[in-house]
Parts: sequence; C-alpha cells; structure tokens
Amino acid sequence: MNLPVPETRHEHHDALASLCKAGGDSLRLNVLRALASDSFGVLELAQIFAIGQSGMSHHLKVLAQAGLVATRREGNAIFYRRALPAADSPGGRLHAALFDEVDDLALPIDVRARMALVQRQRAAASEDFFSRMEEKFRAQQDLIAGLAQYRDSVLALLDKLSFGEQASALEIGPGDGAFLPDLARRFAQVTALDNSAEMLELARQLCQRAQLGNVQLSLADALGDSHAQAHCVVLNMVLHHFPDPALALERLAARVIPGGSLLVTELCSHNQSWAREACGDLWLGFEQEDLARWATAAGLVPGESLYVGLRNGFQIQVRHFQRPAGDTHHR
Ligand SMILES: C[S@@+](CC[C@H](N)C(=O)[O-])C[C@H]1O[C@@H](n2cnc3c(N)ncnc32)[C@H](O)[C@@H]1O
Repeated sequence: MNLPVPETRHEHHDALASLCKAGGDSLRLNVLRALASDSFGVLELAQIFAIGQSGMSHHLKVLAQAGLVATRREGNAIFYRRALPAADSPGGRLHAALFDEVDDLALPIDVRARMALVQRQRAAASEDFFSRMEEKFRAQQDLIAGLAQYRDSVLALLDKLSFGEQASALEIGPGDGAFLPDLARRFAQVTALDNSAEMLELARQLCQRAQLGNVQLSLADALGDSHAQAHCVVLNMVLHHFPDPALALERLAARVIPGGSLLVTELCSHNQSWAREACGDLWLGFEQEDLARWATAAGLVPGESLYVGLRNGFQIQVRHFQRPAGDTHHR
C-alpha cells in the first residue's frame, strides 16, 4: 500500500537553514552587532572589520539572503541596516532571539576604534557637503535629510505595529504634509498639529490635492494645553526644534493612548553647528541612548529602531516607543 507522502514545507526549512548559516560565523555576528545602532556601507564595514571589500560583500550577501539585513541605495552607495524580525514568518522568532543574543556581545576593541574612525570620516564628509552646498542649503533644509530618505523606514516600523481599524494617528509638525497621505491610508482618523500657519497651509493644500477626507489640521503648539490623544503619535524631524526634548517627550507620551505608540525620526548626533543657524535646529541630532533614556523616563518602553545612512555623512534614526497598556496615569 502506498502511504501518502507527508507534505514538507521546504521553503520554511530553507529559510531556517539560511538563517542558521548566516548566524554561524563570528564575523557576521559582529557585523550584526555593529549594525545594532547604526547603518554602514560596504566600504565602511570592510574598513571597520579590516577585511577586503569583496570578502565583506560576500558576508553581507549571506546576511541579506537570510533576511537579517536590509539595504538602501543612496545614489551609487548602498547602506546596510538590520532587518526587522517578523514574528509570524519562518525563522522570525530565531531572528529576534539572535539579535537579542548579539546585543549582549561586546565588539573587539580594535573594531570599536575603527568604528569611531568611520564616524569621524562621516563628520568630515558632512562638513565638506555643507561647504559645497551652503547657498542652496539655506533655502532648502531637505538637502540634509528629506522625507524621501526616511519615509520607507518609518512605514516599515509602522506596518509592523498592529492598530485597530478605528485607530487614530497624530502627526506633530507635519511640515508640508507629505507624510499625511501615508497616515490617512492606515488610520481611521488623523490629526496634524503644527505651530506654523505657513506650514499648515501647505499641508492643507496637499490634503486637498490628495483628497484626504480623514485628516484634521490644527494650528497649535505641540506642547500646549490640549489633551487630545491618539493611538499613534508621529514626530518626523521635529524633536530637535524643542528646547527641552526630554520634557517634550514626557508631554508627547501623554498624548499616546495607553497601549499605543510614539514614532520618532531624528538625525543621529552630529557636530555640524551650521545647522542651528541654517535650519533653526536647536539640537544637532540626538544620541541614540539619550532618546531611549528620555522616553523611558516618560513612561515609554523602547521598541525597535531602524537606522538610515546618508551619502552626505548624516545618519537618521527611526525609533519606536510604546506606552504600556496599563499606564493610565496622567502626566
Ligand atoms: C523640520 S520640519 C519637519 C517637517 C516634516 N515632519 C518632515 O519630516 O518633513 C519641523 C516642523 O515642526 C514644526 N514645529 C516646530 N516646533 C513645533 C511646535 N512646538 N509645535 C508644533 N509644531 C512645531 C515646524 O513648524 C515644522 O513644520
């Protein structure tokens, strides 16, 4: 008698095998560790780990095939960052556990020294960028980092979070409103709050052109007295305008409905003090640890983060913080 052949799901085995293979090499584990709070190009990683570019490209290919790293092209440069684990996909739990284990590893001292050197080279690159772009830059802040460069990363984090069908979003400082269509598609109700009437007018025109019927615009200070709350509060490139970002995070945390999320996109700390004058930035980006510390002090729980490297030497961080469901305490 012929017994039925059990259905084997090879693609699941293959996905798990390539994950195990990618994790089965100490250099690749160190690369994942280095990518915990930054993104790097192939040449930068080759320099950090003192190996040839083709050797590093091979390791990155193995990590990319296993879904452990993702790439982003900026002109002719490719930046690598960690890929977010998806709990419901094959190997998703192993992927998340591997990152947890890797985060407990200490990078060798020479690797850390070369990472610091790469950071200094980036600072020099961004200085050079500004010296060439100064004129244009004064008119257009987007030359440092525009929505096009971080939009996909914010959406990748947003789409991993699950919000109910009736969930609401609040965007603080929407600027010209370019991110509002993305929010309007994902949330039942969206409120956008900006303290600049000119910016809000641009956002209004964009909402009209895109026929967004579920977006409400409001001229107000983000840290004002309103207690309007939303399931998801989004701040793209706004926190560096607040004199006291720790206090701002505390106030904004109170605008998140318990169980909801705060998403913050910001530049990583940089030393280009011209940005203060040229774009009214009060802060020159933020240290990754400072954002996590301030958010924790505001009662939020740090979640996943993505890092976006830019060819001009700047680095963007996209951070998720959750307000615990049981936190009903008024701040
Ligand atoms: C650099 S723009 C970012 C625009 C947009 N989010 C983006 O990613 O392109 C900062 C925005 O925050 C707004 N803003 C600054 N301080 C604010 C405050 N205290 N309350 C509300 N909006 C504020 C500004 O008017 C501006 O529209």
